[in-house]
Amino acid sequence: MTEHVLIERRGAVQVIRMNRPEKKNAITSAMYAAMARALTDGDADPGVHCHVFLGVPGAFSAGNDLADFLAVATGGENSTDVWDFLIALASAAKPIISGVDGIAVGIGTTLNLHCDLTFATSRTVFRTPFVDLGLVPEAGSSLLVPKLMGRQRAFALLCLGEGFSATMAKDAGLIYEVVDEADLEAKVFAAAEQVAAKPVQALKISRDLLRGSPEEIVNRIREEGAHFRERLTSEEAHAALTAFMSRKKA
Ligand code: COA
Repeated sequence: MTEHVLIERRGAVQVIRMNRPEKKNAITSAMYAAMARALTDGDADPGVHCHVFLGVPGAFSAGNDLADFLAVATGGENSTDVWDFLIALASAAKPIISGVDGIAVGIGTTLNLHCDLTFATSRTVFRTPFVDLGLVPEAGSSLLVPKLMGRQRAFALLCLGEGFSATMAKDAGLIYEVVDEADLEAKVFAAAEQVAAKPVQALKISRDLLRGSPEEIVNRIREEGAHFRERLTSEEAHAALTAFMSRKKA
């Protein structure tokens, strides 16, 4: 479907790797569609016990492709791929582990809210500049982040767009462990294999109990989505997106 997402099976672990290094793993519609499909296919496959999300060295993801956002801001069609992906992510039936190195912007941060374990390298910075782009939080983050880290840190992350180092992210409960760059993937795969080896039904019931019903999160994703789509056509968003896309020409 797209060469920018690589899907690999390692035993009972499905690895979903964002692979668009030349754009710091900015995510296009085709990439969202490929990742949503991987989650639903993996959930339907009894041979898959666990999903893993990875990026490339130095870039987990620079967030949504801003050229795609600008296209919508200037009257183009608003694809549903991102929202379909977010709903597949929030509703995924099997455990998800992520390994984050370097850039983790926008959805590169909020994706991890739906993971059961996240490992991040010490050079990782989590950042969500939604408001600076004239936009609003997505992926259920307006619900999940205040619950996770309290209103004040949530405001700093989601509204001020403050960068959170890996250590701050760990203190805030956003990630599980800070690891060395050289160890990241080995740690992620070891954890995934540990998860994949657990009794499947007992783990599923336990995880479902921990997470609660995805319905509240899915409803929030839809509510955020309505604001987000409206904001994409705002003057604030148009100005911010145009400034980013033309910054190197100046
Ligand atoms: N959408 C589209 N293209 C993006 C992108 C994005 N979100 N993030 C990076 N890119 C592109 C850049 O335009 C550049 O393309 P070019 O080489 O054709 O000019 C390439 O990726 C490399 O990015 P660059 O900015 O040169 O790398 P950097 O290491 O100096 O900075 C970032 C990396 C992520 C800090 C910076 O690119 C950035 O701020 N990106 C936007 C992040 C963002 O706002 N995402 C949306 C959140 S909702």
